[in-house]
Amino acid sequence: MTRKILVTSALPYANGSIHLGHLVEYIQTDIWVRFQKMQGHRCHYVCADDTHGTPIMLRAQKEGITPEELIAKVWHEHYSDFQGFHIGFDNYYSTNTPETRHYADDIYLKLKEQGLIEVRAIEQFYDPVKEMFLPDRFIKGECPKCHAKDQYGDSCEACGAAYQPTDLIEPFSAVSGATPVKKQSDHYFFKLSDEKCRNFLKEWIKPPHVQAEAANKLNEWLESGLSDWDISRDAPYFGFEIPDAPGKFYYVWLDAPIGYMGSFKNLCDKQGLNFDEYWGKDSTAEVYHFIGKDILYFHALFWPAELEYADYRTPSGVFAHGFLTVNGQKMSKSRGTFITASSYLKHLNPEHLRYYFAAKLGATIEDIDLSLEDFTARVNSDLVGKFVNIASRCAGFLSKSFDGKVGPMESAYVERITPILKVGSAEDLGNNLAMGGLNSTFREAGKEIAALYEAREYGKALRKIMELADLANQFIDEQKPWVLAKDPAQQNRLHMVCSTGLEMFRLLTLYLKPVLPEVAKSVETFLNVPELKWADIHAALPEGHRINAYQHLMTRIDSKQVEAMTEANKESLAPQPEQQSQARHAEHQQHQAAKQPPPGAGEEAKVGAIAPLCTIDDFAKIDLRIARIANAEHVEGAEKLLKLTLDIGEAQPRTVFAGIKSAYDPALLKGRMTVMVANLAPRKMKFGMSEGMVLAASGEAPGLFILSPDDGAQPGMRVK
Ligand code: 2FM
Ligand code: ZN
Repeated sequence: MTRKILVTSALPYANGSIHLGHLVEYIQTDIWVRFQKMQGHRCHYVCADDTHGTPIMLRAQKEGITPEELIAKVWHEHYSDFQGFHIGFDNYYSTNTPETRHYADDIYLKLKEQGLIEVRAIEQFYDPVKEMFLPDRFIKGECPKCHAKDQYGDSCEACGAAYQPTDLIEPFSAVSGATPVKKQSDHYFFKLSDEKCRNFLKEWIKPPHVQAEAANKLNEWLESGLSDWDISRDAPYFGFEIPDAPGKFYYVWLDAPIGYMGSFKNLCDKQGLNFDEYWGKDSTAEVYHFIGKDILYFHALFWPAELEYADYRTPSGVFAHGFLTVNGQKMSKSRGTFITASSYLKHLNPEHLRYYFAAKLGATIEDIDLSLEDFTARVNSDLVGKFVNIASRCAGFLSKSFDGKVGPMESAYVERITPILKVGSAEDLGNNLAMGGLNSTFREAGKEIAALYEAREYGKALRKIMELADLANQFIDEQKPWVLAKDPAQQNRLHMVCSTGLEMFRLLTLYLKPVLPEVAKSVETFLNVPELKWADIHAALPEGHRINAYQHLMTRIDSKQVEAMTEANKESLAPQPEQQSQARHAEHQQHQAAKQPPPGAGEEAKVGAIAPLCTIDDFAKIDLRIARIANAEHVEGAEKLLKLTLDIGEAQPRTVFAGIKSAYDPALLKGRMTVMVANLAPRKMKFGMSEGMVLAASGEAPGLFILSPDDGAQPGMRVK
C-alpha cells in the first residue's frame, strides 16, 4: 500500500549559521525520507527558516538592514548548506509568508472561539531608551545568589542558579545599557491549563506519538501542572500582528510550527497536492516531526493541543533526538569543534558525515558523539576499505577481459559461495545454507534493513549492511580473481566471480542509498542501471548487461583534512560568539545576539599592509569569471599543483595548474564553482600550458581557501 507521508525537521532560526549540531537532525530526517521514497511511498519533506522574533529584529538593526533583507540573506546561506549535505527538501520556505500568516490567524481565531485564549496584564522589564519590552535574555545584572556581575536575566553562568529577571541586582538592558523599568501590558495566553487540554494531552502523549522516554518526561510536566502559554509580544517586534489586537504580535514560537503548514501549503500550490488530505481532521496521511529534545515541550504539548482545538489533525509522531558532542565534549570554539556546515564542506565529503551520523543514530533521545578520530577510522574502513573496495576489485577484470559485460552468476552465486560460509559461526553457516547461500543472504537481509530504517535504527541497519560487505569481500578473497585472471582456463570462473561481486555491490549500494545518495548516483551510472528503488532487491544485473568503466567512487579521509577543519574553525569563528550555545530556544538566541561585539571590537590588526591604490580602470583590466571545476586531478611529479579543468561557458574548457594541492582533495573540488582570472596570459609550465588562474585566500596561518560564489552564479558570469 502506498503511504502518504509528510515529514518535517525543526525550522532553523534565520540569524545563525547551520552547524554540525543542526545537521544531526537534517541528516536523520533526510535518510528517513529517502528511504520512504525508495519504498515508493508518497513522502513530502518540508522545512523553512524560522524568521520572527526580537533577536532577528535587533540583529538586522545592528547590520543596518531590514529584517526582510536579513532573512533573505540567511535563507540563501541555509539553503546552500543544506544542498551541500544533500538534504533533499521538497520545499524549503520561510515563516514570513502569507501561507504561514494565514494558518497562524486561522489557528488563533479558532482557539479563541473555543474559549482557549485569554488576555491578562503582566508586568515586565521595559527599556525606556529603546522603548521596548525586554525578553529575559536581554536583561543583565548581578546574580542574586553568587553576586557574579554581568549575568543574564534567567540564569547565572557562574553558579548555574535560575531566577526571574526581577531578582537581578542592578539590572540593565543588554540592548541600550539603560536601567530597565517595570511596565504593565496586556498579553494573550493560550490556556493550556484548561481541563480539556489537560485531558486531551494526557491521552495523547503516549507512544507511538512520542518515544517512551519522551512520554515519561512529558508526563512529569503534565503532572506538575501545565501553565498557560504567553503567545503575544508587544511592538516593536518582527512578526505577524495579531488580527484583533493592534500593536500585539504572535510570539515567534506560536508561528514556528505553523510554518510547517505554511511550507507544505506552498508545496501543495506548486505541485497540485491537496493540503486537507494531510492536515484535515480526518486525514489518513501520516505527519511526522523530527526535532531536538530541547524543543519537545513545544512540539508534544503546545502544538498537538493547538491543532486539536483548532480543528486540524494532530501529528502521527514527534521524533526527538539528542544533542551532538564532539570528541566527547560540548562543541567548543576554542577547541575548533564548533564546526559550521560550510566550513565542513570546504574540507570534507558530506557523505562521510552522513554515514558517520547514521552509524551513531538510533531511535532514542540519547546524545551522539562525533569522535573525529573514530570518524576518520570508520569512514576509511567501512566505506573505502569494505564497500567501495568490492567494486574496485571486480570492475577492472570485467572491463578488460569481458568487454564490460556481466556474465552468468545466479547458480554460481549460490554454489561457489559455500566455502566462505565456513568463515562464520556454525549457526551462520546453517542459516546461510538454509537460505540457499549468499544470494539469499543478501536479498533476505533487505527486509531486516528496511525494518531498521523504518524504525530509525540506522546504526543497526549499517552494521547489518557492513556484515554483508564483509561477506562479499570474503567471497572475493576466497575466489582470488587476480589469480584466476592469469589462467586462461579459468576465464569463465573469473567472469562469474566478478559479476557476482558486482551484483553484491549493487545490492549494498541499494541498501546504503538513503545514507549515500550521491555515491549511489555514481554507482547507478557505473553499473548503467536506472535509479535504484527498494523493489530492485528482487532484480539482478542481467547476463550480457554492459557496465561503464569504473570511476573512483570515494577517497579516504586524511587526518590532515580533519585537522585543517578544526584549525579553520578555531580561527574563523573566534570573532562570532553568537553561536556558542547549541541550545536553540529563542531566549538563547536572544542572548547570543546581544553578546555579539560591535564589528571590529577586540580584533587586532593582523592584516598585512594594503597594496597601493588602483583605479577602477586598472581593476577592470582583470577579467574575472565564474568557473565550474569540471575536473581536478593530481599531477604526477608536482608537489604543489593540481590540474584543474575549468568550464567558463566557452567551447573548450580551460586547463589551469593551481598550487592548491596542500589544501584540497581533487575529488572534493569536482563540480564546485569558483572564480578565475580569464585573461591572464597563458603560461607554459613543466606539466603543460596553464590558461588562467583561480583565486584563493591565504594568510599567515596555514590554510588556503579558494573562492566560491553564492548559489545561482553560472559558469562564464563576469565578476566585477
Ligand atoms: O529551536 C529552534 O531552532 C527553533 N527555531 C525551532 C522551531 S521548530 C518549529 F517549531 F518550527
Ligand atoms: Zn550566580
